[in-house]
Amino acid sequence: MEWAANARKSHFELGFVPTMGALHQGHIDLAKRAKAKNDLLVCSIFVNPIQFNNPEDLKKYPRDLERDLQRLQTIDCDAVFCPDEEEIYPEPVTTKYDFGHVDKVMEGKYRQGHFNGVAIVVNKLFDIVQPHRAYFGEKDFQQLQIIKALVKKEKKEVEVIACPTVRESDGLAMSSRNARLNPLQRKEAAKIFETLEGAKKRFGFMSPRAIKKWVEQEINASSELKLEYFEIVDAENLLPLEKTDPDFPVVGCIAVNAGEVRLIDNIFLNV
Ligand code: PAJ
Repeated sequence: MEWAANARKSHFELGFVPTMGALHQGHIDLAKRAKAKNDLLVCSIFVNPIQFNNPEDLKKYPRDLERDLQRLQTIDCDAVFCPDEEEIYPEPVTTKYDFGHVDKVMEGKYRQGHFNGVAIVVNKLFDIVQPHRAYFGEKDFQQLQIIKALVKKEKKEVEVIACPTVRESDGLAMSSRNARLNPLQRKEAAKIFETLEGAKKRFGFMSPRAIKKWVEQEINASSELKLEYFEIVDAENLLPLEKTDPDFPVVGCIAVNAGEVRLIDNIFLNV
Protein backbone atom coordinates (compact mmCIF):
# COMPACT_ATOMS: atom_id res chain seq x y z
CA MET A 1 0.00 0.00 0.00
CA GLU A 2 2.00 2.90 -1.38
CA TRP A 3 -0.13 5.52 0.36
CA ALA A 4 0.76 4.09 3.79
CA ALA A 5 4.46 3.81 2.95
CA ASN A 6 4.53 7.45 1.81
CA ALA A 7 2.61 8.59 4.89
CA ARG A 8 5.17 6.88 7.12
CA LYS A 9 8.03 8.43 5.18
CA SER A 10 6.41 11.83 5.82
CA HIS A 11 6.50 11.02 9.56
CA PHE A 12 2.75 10.69 9.99
CA GLU A 13 1.56 8.31 12.71
CA LEU A 14 -0.87 5.75 11.34
CA GLY A 15 -3.80 4.30 13.27
CA PHE A 16 -5.19 1.11 11.75
CA VAL A 17 -8.54 -0.67 12.16
CA PRO A 18 -8.78 -4.03 10.38
CA THR A 19 -12.36 -5.19 9.70
CA MET A 20 -14.37 -7.62 7.61
CA GLY A 21 -16.88 -4.90 6.69
CA ALA A 22 -20.64 -4.81 7.38
CA LEU A 23 -19.64 -1.96 9.65
CA HIS A 24 -21.63 -1.14 12.76
CA GLN A 25 -21.18 1.28 15.65
CA GLY A 26 -18.62 -1.07 17.29
CA HIS A 27 -16.30 -0.73 14.27
CA ILE A 28 -16.94 3.00 14.03
CA ASP A 29 -16.03 3.46 17.70
CA LEU A 30 -12.66 1.75 17.07
CA ALA A 31 -12.09 3.98 14.03
CA LYS A 32 -12.93 7.15 15.97
CA ARG A 33 -10.50 6.19 18.73
CA ALA A 34 -7.80 5.56 16.12
CA LYS A 35 -8.55 8.85 14.37
CA ALA A 36 -8.33 10.79 17.65
CA LYS A 37 -4.90 9.42 18.65
CA ASN A 38 -3.08 9.31 15.30
CA ASP A 39 -2.33 11.67 12.42
CA LEU A 40 -4.03 9.42 9.88
CA LEU A 41 -6.67 6.68 10.03
CA VAL A 42 -6.54 3.59 7.80
CA CYS A 43 -9.31 0.98 7.85
CA SER A 44 -9.26 -2.28 5.95
CA ILE A 45 -12.24 -4.25 4.71
CA PHE A 46 -11.51 -7.84 3.79
CA VAL A 47 -13.69 -10.88 4.43
CA ASN A 48 -10.88 -13.30 5.16
CA PRO A 49 -11.91 -16.70 3.77
CA ILE A 50 -9.26 -18.69 5.64
CA GLN A 51 -10.59 -17.76 9.08
CA PHE A 52 -14.03 -19.27 8.42
CA ASN A 53 -14.22 -22.87 9.60
CA ASN A 54 -17.81 -23.06 8.36
CA PRO A 55 -18.30 -22.47 4.59
CA GLU A 56 -21.97 -21.57 5.15
CA ASP A 57 -20.92 -18.79 7.58
CA LEU A 58 -18.54 -17.39 4.95
CA LYS A 59 -21.24 -17.50 2.27
CA LYS A 60 -23.77 -15.75 4.52
CA TYR A 61 -21.34 -13.15 5.86
CA PRO A 62 -22.98 -9.74 5.17
CA ARG A 63 -21.25 -7.60 2.55
CA ASP A 64 -22.12 -3.98 1.68
CA LEU A 65 -19.04 -2.12 0.50
CA GLU A 66 -20.86 1.01 -0.71
CA ARG A 67 -22.53 1.56 2.65
CA ASP A 68 -19.29 0.80 4.54
CA LEU A 69 -17.36 3.36 2.49
CA GLN A 70 -20.04 5.98 3.10
CA ARG A 71 -19.91 5.37 6.84
CA LEU A 72 -16.13 5.68 6.88
CA GLN A 73 -16.36 8.90 4.91
CA THR A 74 -18.64 10.44 7.54
CA ILE A 75 -15.89 10.02 10.16
CA ASP A 76 -13.16 11.33 7.83
CA CYS A 77 -11.29 8.06 7.45
CA ASP A 78 -8.13 8.92 5.49
CA ALA A 79 -7.68 5.66 3.60
CA VAL A 80 -9.59 2.40 3.14
CA PHE A 81 -7.76 -0.72 2.04
CA CYS A 82 -10.11 -3.20 0.34
CA PRO A 83 -7.89 -5.88 -1.21
CA ASP A 84 -9.25 -8.79 -3.22
CA GLU A 85 -8.38 -12.38 -2.35
CA GLU A 86 -5.69 -12.54 -5.03
CA GLU A 87 -3.80 -9.63 -3.46
CA ILE A 88 -3.72 -11.16 0.02
CA TYR A 89 -3.33 -14.78 -1.05
CA PRO A 90 -1.47 -14.88 -4.41
CA GLU A 91 -0.58 -18.46 -3.50
CA PRO A 92 -1.99 -20.93 -0.97
CA VAL A 93 -0.83 -20.31 2.60
CA THR A 94 0.74 -23.02 4.70
CA THR A 95 1.80 -21.08 7.83
CA LYS A 96 0.83 -22.83 11.06
CA TYR A 97 0.99 -20.65 14.14
CA ASP A 98 1.17 -22.09 17.61
CA PHE A 99 0.26 -19.70 20.40
CA GLY A 100 0.26 -22.41 23.05
CA HIS A 101 -2.78 -22.55 25.29
CA VAL A 102 -4.34 -19.32 23.97
CA ASP A 103 -5.32 -20.70 20.55
CA LYS A 104 -6.48 -24.12 21.80
CA VAL A 105 -9.33 -23.23 24.16
CA MET A 106 -12.83 -21.76 23.72
CA GLU A 107 -13.08 -20.35 20.16
CA GLY A 108 -9.92 -22.27 19.26
CA LYS A 109 -11.54 -25.53 20.30
CA TYR A 110 -14.91 -24.93 18.64
CA ARG A 111 -13.60 -23.20 15.48
CA GLN A 112 -10.62 -25.25 14.30
CA GLY A 113 -8.15 -23.22 12.24
CA HIS A 114 -9.98 -19.95 12.91
CA PHE A 115 -7.21 -18.19 14.84
CA ASN A 116 -4.54 -19.42 12.45
CA GLY A 117 -6.49 -17.68 9.67
CA VAL A 118 -6.87 -14.52 11.75
CA ALA A 119 -3.15 -14.43 12.64
CA ILE A 120 -2.10 -14.97 9.01
CA VAL A 121 -4.27 -12.17 7.64
CA VAL A 122 -3.48 -9.69 10.43
CA ASN A 123 0.24 -10.37 9.97
CA LYS A 124 -0.11 -9.65 6.24
CA LEU A 125 -2.19 -6.52 6.86
CA PHE A 126 0.38 -5.23 9.35
CA ASP A 127 3.12 -5.78 6.75
CA ILE A 128 1.15 -3.89 4.12
CA VAL A 129 -0.13 -0.98 6.23
CA GLN A 130 2.73 -0.80 8.75
CA PRO A 131 0.67 1.09 11.31
CA HIS A 132 2.00 2.64 14.51
CA ARG A 133 -1.11 1.57 16.40
CA ALA A 134 -3.77 -1.04 15.64
CA TYR A 135 -7.18 -1.07 17.30
CA PHE A 136 -9.07 -4.24 18.25
CA GLY A 137 -12.32 -4.79 20.16
CA GLU A 138 -12.55 -6.53 23.52
CA LYS A 139 -15.74 -8.04 22.11
CA ASP A 140 -13.45 -10.67 20.54
CA PHE A 141 -11.43 -11.10 23.68
CA GLN A 142 -9.55 -14.22 22.67
CA GLN A 143 -8.74 -12.73 19.26
CA LEU A 144 -7.22 -9.74 21.06
CA GLN A 145 -4.90 -12.04 23.04
CA ILE A 146 -3.96 -13.87 19.83
CA ILE A 147 -3.05 -10.56 18.16
CA LYS A 148 -0.90 -9.56 21.15
CA ALA A 149 0.87 -12.95 20.96
CA LEU A 150 1.30 -12.54 17.18
CA VAL A 151 2.91 -9.12 17.57
CA LYS A 152 5.37 -10.59 20.09
CA LYS A 153 6.12 -13.66 17.97
CA GLU A 154 6.60 -11.73 14.73
CA LYS A 155 8.37 -8.86 16.55
CA LYS A 156 6.08 -6.31 14.93
CA GLU A 157 6.51 -2.67 15.83
CA VAL A 158 2.85 -1.97 16.33
CA GLU A 159 1.06 -1.01 19.49
CA VAL A 160 -2.10 -3.06 19.99
CA ILE A 161 -4.90 -0.99 21.53
CA ALA A 162 -7.81 -2.80 23.20
CA CYS A 163 -11.19 -1.04 22.94
CA PRO A 164 -14.29 -1.70 25.06
CA THR A 165 -17.29 -3.55 23.63
CA VAL A 166 -20.01 -1.36 22.14
CA ARG A 167 -23.51 -2.62 22.95
CA GLU A 168 -27.11 -2.17 21.82
CA SER A 169 -29.40 -0.43 24.35
CA ASP A 170 -30.50 -3.81 25.79
CA GLY A 171 -26.87 -4.89 26.30
CA LEU A 172 -26.41 -7.18 23.29
CA ALA A 173 -22.87 -6.76 21.95
CA MET A 174 -22.95 -5.23 18.48
CA SER A 175 -22.02 -7.73 15.79
CA SER A 176 -22.47 -8.06 12.03
CA ARG A 177 -24.17 -11.38 12.80
CA ASN A 178 -26.99 -9.76 14.83
CA ALA A 179 -28.75 -8.84 11.56
CA ARG A 180 -29.31 -12.57 10.95
CA LEU A 181 -31.37 -13.02 14.14
CA ASN A 182 -35.16 -13.23 13.78
CA PRO A 183 -37.18 -10.88 16.03
CA LEU A 184 -37.67 -13.46 18.79
CA GLN A 185 -34.03 -14.56 18.74
CA ARG A 186 -32.99 -10.90 18.79
CA LYS A 187 -35.12 -10.24 21.86
CA GLU A 188 -33.82 -13.33 23.68
CA ALA A 189 -30.21 -12.56 22.75
CA ALA A 190 -30.26 -9.72 25.31
CA LYS A 191 -30.19 -12.50 27.95
CA ILE A 192 -26.56 -13.19 27.06
CA PHE A 193 -25.24 -9.95 28.54
CA GLU A 194 -27.84 -10.01 31.30
CA THR A 195 -26.46 -13.43 32.31
CA LEU A 196 -22.86 -12.21 32.10
CA GLU A 197 -23.77 -9.39 34.48
CA GLY A 198 -25.37 -11.96 36.79
CA ALA A 199 -22.15 -13.99 36.70
CA LYS A 200 -20.16 -10.89 37.62
CA LYS A 201 -22.45 -10.21 40.57
CA ARG A 202 -21.97 -13.78 41.80
CA PHE A 203 -18.19 -13.79 41.35
CA GLY A 204 -16.42 -13.89 44.71
CA PHE A 205 -19.51 -15.36 46.41
CA MET A 206 -19.92 -18.57 44.44
CA SER A 207 -17.25 -20.96 43.15
CA PRO A 208 -16.34 -20.71 39.42
CA ARG A 209 -17.94 -24.15 38.99
CA ALA A 210 -21.22 -23.05 40.56
CA ILE A 211 -21.28 -19.85 38.44
CA LYS A 212 -20.70 -21.88 35.27
CA LYS A 213 -23.62 -24.12 36.18
CA TRP A 214 -25.84 -21.11 36.91
CA VAL A 215 -24.95 -19.52 33.53
CA GLU A 216 -25.73 -22.75 31.70
CA GLN A 217 -29.17 -22.96 33.35
CA GLU A 218 -29.98 -19.30 32.66
CA ILE A 219 -29.05 -19.42 28.98
CA ASN A 220 -30.60 -22.79 28.23
CA ALA A 221 -33.84 -21.72 29.97
CA SER A 222 -34.55 -19.71 26.82
CA SER A 223 -36.05 -21.79 24.01
CA GLU A 224 -34.14 -19.62 21.49
CA LEU A 225 -30.65 -19.94 23.00
CA LYS A 226 -28.24 -22.83 23.44
CA LEU A 227 -25.03 -22.44 25.41
CA GLU A 228 -21.88 -23.64 23.64
CA TYR A 229 -19.48 -22.69 26.42
CA PHE A 230 -19.01 -20.35 29.33
CA GLU A 231 -15.47 -20.25 30.72
CA ILE A 232 -14.01 -18.28 33.62
CA VAL A 233 -10.38 -17.58 32.75
CA ASP A 234 -7.28 -15.59 33.61
CA ALA A 235 -7.60 -12.55 31.29
CA GLU A 236 -3.98 -12.74 30.21
CA ASN A 237 -3.26 -16.40 29.49
CA LEU A 238 -6.88 -17.65 29.27
CA LEU A 239 -6.16 -20.52 31.67
CA PRO A 240 -9.27 -21.69 33.55
CA LEU A 241 -9.62 -20.19 37.00
CA GLU A 242 -9.73 -22.54 39.94
CA LYS A 243 -9.81 -20.19 42.95
CA THR A 244 -12.45 -17.65 43.99
CA ASP A 245 -10.27 -14.69 45.06
CA PRO A 246 -7.64 -14.11 42.33
CA ASP A 247 -5.39 -11.02 42.43
CA PHE A 248 -5.34 -10.70 38.62
CA PRO A 249 -8.03 -9.77 36.08
CA VAL A 250 -10.50 -12.55 35.35
CA VAL A 251 -12.86 -12.68 32.39
CA GLY A 252 -15.96 -14.73 31.69
CA CYS A 253 -16.23 -15.71 28.01
CA ILE A 254 -19.40 -17.04 26.46
CA ALA A 255 -20.52 -18.50 23.12
CA VAL A 256 -24.22 -19.03 22.45
CA ASN A 257 -26.11 -20.36 19.46
CA ALA A 258 -29.37 -18.60 18.56
CA GLY A 259 -30.67 -20.86 15.80
CA GLU A 260 -27.99 -20.81 13.11
CA VAL A 261 -26.32 -17.70 14.48
CA ARG A 262 -23.36 -18.01 16.79
CA LEU A 263 -22.85 -15.13 19.21
CA ILE A 264 -19.89 -14.46 21.52
CA ASP A 265 -19.44 -12.02 24.37
CA ASN A 266 -17.43 -11.61 27.57
CA ILE A 267 -17.22 -9.62 30.79
CA PHE A 268 -14.48 -8.75 33.27
CA LEU A 269 -15.61 -10.44 36.47
CA ASN A 270 -13.43 -8.68 39.03
CA VAL A 271 -12.42 -5.35 37.48
P1 PAJ B 1 -14.67 -7.90 12.44
O1 PAJ B 1 -15.56 -8.94 13.05
O2 PAJ B 1 -15.17 -7.09 11.31
O3 PAJ B 1 -14.22 -6.94 13.61
C1 PAJ B 1 -13.30 -5.91 13.39
C2 PAJ B 1 -12.92 -5.31 14.72
O4 PAJ B 1 -14.08 -4.74 15.34
C3 PAJ B 1 -12.38 -6.37 15.71
O5 PAJ B 1 -11.27 -5.84 16.42
C4 PAJ B 1 -13.56 -6.60 16.63
O6 PAJ B 1 -13.20 -7.05 17.93
C5 PAJ B 1 -14.17 -5.21 16.67
N1 PAJ B 1 -15.57 -5.25 17.10
C6 PAJ B 1 -16.57 -6.01 16.59
N2 PAJ B 1 -17.71 -5.82 17.28
C7 PAJ B 1 -17.43 -4.90 18.25
C8 PAJ B 1 -18.17 -4.29 19.31
N3 PAJ B 1 -19.45 -4.56 19.49
N4 PAJ B 1 -17.54 -3.41 20.11
C9 PAJ B 1 -16.22 -3.13 19.94
N5 PAJ B 1 -15.46 -3.67 18.97
C10 PAJ B 1 -16.06 -4.54 18.14
O7 PAJ B 1 -12.49 -9.31 13.93
C11 PAJ B 1 -12.46 -9.33 12.71
O8 PAJ B 1 -13.32 -8.59 11.93
C12 PAJ B 1 -11.45 -10.15 11.93
O9 PAJ B 1 -11.15 -11.31 12.64
C13 PAJ B 1 -10.14 -9.36 11.59
C14 PAJ B 1 -9.40 -8.94 12.86
C15 PAJ B 1 -10.47 -8.13 10.73
C16 PAJ B 1 -9.21 -10.29 10.78
O10 PAJ B 1 -9.82 -10.74 9.63
